[in-house]
Amino acid sequence: MDIDTQDCLLIIDFGSQVTQLIARRLREQNVYCEIHPYQNVTDAVLLDLNPKAVILSGGPDSVTRKDSPRAPDRLWDMGIPVLGICYGQQTMMQQLGGLVEGGKISGGGGTAEFGRAKVKSSGELDLLNGWFIEGPEQVWMSHGDHVSKIAPGFEVYGTSANAPFAIIADTSKHFYGVQFHPEVHHTPRGAKLYENFVRLAGFKGDWTMDAYRDIAIEKIRKQVGDKQVICGLSGGVDSSVTAALLQEAIGDQLTCVFVDHGLLRLNEADDVMAMFRENMNLKVIYADEKELFLCALEGQSDPETKRKIIGGLFIDVFQKYANKINGAEFLAQGTLYPDVIESVSFSGGPSVTIKSHHNVGGLPEKMGLKLVEPLRDLFKDEVRILGRELGLPVSFIGRHPFPGPGLAIRCPGEITREKLEILRLADAVFIDQIRKHKLYDEIWQAFVAILPVRTVGVMGDGRTYDFACALRAVTSVDGMTADYYPFGHDFLSETATRIINEVAGINRVTYDITSKPPGTIEWE
Ligand code: XMP
Repeated sequence: MDIDTQDCLLIIDFGSQVTQLIARRLREQNVYCEIHPYQNVTDAVLLDLNPKAVILSGGPDSVTRKDSPRAPDRLWDMGIPVLGICYGQQTMMQQLGGLVEGGKISGGGGTAEFGRAKVKSSGELDLLNGWFIEGPEQVWMSHGDHVSKIAPGFEVYGTSANAPFAIIADTSKHFYGVQFHPEVHHTPRGAKLYENFVRLAGFKGDWTMDAYRDIAIEKIRKQVGDKQVICGLSGGVDSSVTAALLQEAIGDQLTCVFVDHGLLRLNEADDVMAMFRENMNLKVIYADEKELFLCALEGQSDPETKRKIIGGLFIDVFQKYANKINGAEFLAQGTLYPDVIESVSFSGGPSVTIKSHHNVGGLPEKMGLKLVEPLRDLFKDEVRILGRELGLPVSFIGRHPFPGPGLAIRCPGEITREKLEILRLADAVFIDQIRKHKLYDEIWQAFVAILPVRTVGVMGDGRTYDFACALRAVTSVDGMTADYYPFGHDFLSETATRIINEVAGINRVTYDITSKPPGTIEWE
């Protein structure tokens, strides 16, 4: 298999908030897919991409508006299966001779609909194999406009109270349209429709990480030739898997740099270096720059100033070490597919998640380095599977994310060495508690923040005047939104007792019960 000849399913994005979920559902079927914003998919691009099937996403616009987005005309003559979802269904109808109208707010027979609905079957269809097994299916509707007349050649296969054309198809051409969103959680059995669609389109389901590993290695070798590559390691999953892949592809031509900025967790530098040494036989430079970072941060308490200082120094340090590597022409980064989509998405604004590898963002241009990004086709869970294929320990791959600026953004107010020491110990106790109670894998991210306030307490017969800290633990899918983790009271009181007893300098423990939004995961 070669990535250039790999069967590809093209998703044309009309700006739905959930287009990425379509890609997720397809990848779960081991199908390779790419999302492209509709305005980039001209007839020429479509022919060049040569997809085996196409999905038209939902979107916020109205096809009744004159200049609203359309699928490329060439699509309808390519002889490949097409599935239109919500707006995608509507533009399919509009373009093929049906009719779409603006929705009334209430009343039956074609109205705006937002929320759960039941769709019932009105005919046998390959897309629906195994779907209506227990009567009507719950689906998620989210549309203002509705199809009021289907295009010639189409028939109705499913209806809901407010959507007489909830499922339609022209079976002779393998064109399908659904008014609801099968990709979202609220359409509980929606994955089955995607499974049926990729099967009827003839996908073999051979997009596995085992196969990808060989493709990626081949591609790296072709790109890099006999040149040297540098890779910044943060100890996070993405940069580690990038390094492991490069190590397999080009061995000695790779040099990694692990920058210790003095803002790492307890024993983190030793653990990460040992992991690389023992499991990967990597050439890693350990850059001990603790003094540089901590001195520069002295007296700073504004969150953005701290971030800028750390980001700027990171580039300087990386450049210093990169200069020592003779003949380095490439910089490897762990960019993932969601980053790629977000930077090209027509609706997506700038990403709120700043990843550690973005810390070296200014470097490639400054030093004339070319980028190697072997994970740019993958989602995070695929990266984790690939990491396992490459022999990284499971314990390492499942680690919670840790931000590039490290403990600096968990230490509101002025950063002092004393506070960092206290924070490290408290954090280690909290994580130990979570592991002991077997909650680590249920939680997306957990840490302690040390608060810039001392409070009065009493221990034994004496008065204490020490720092307060906050425990933070969240569940999340991608860090963009998050819910606080609902620990039991026993867990919280046991953890608070341990921290106060085991960590000198803290006499009060609080639990942060803010979700995101309105909060953020980190405190700064
Ligand atoms: P927030 O605090 O924005 O965090 O809700 C979302 C996720 O992003 C991580 N984060 C960062 N990661 N560099 C990083 O590598 C950063 O500057 C940064 N800021 C936040 C945070 O830990 C959480 O996982």
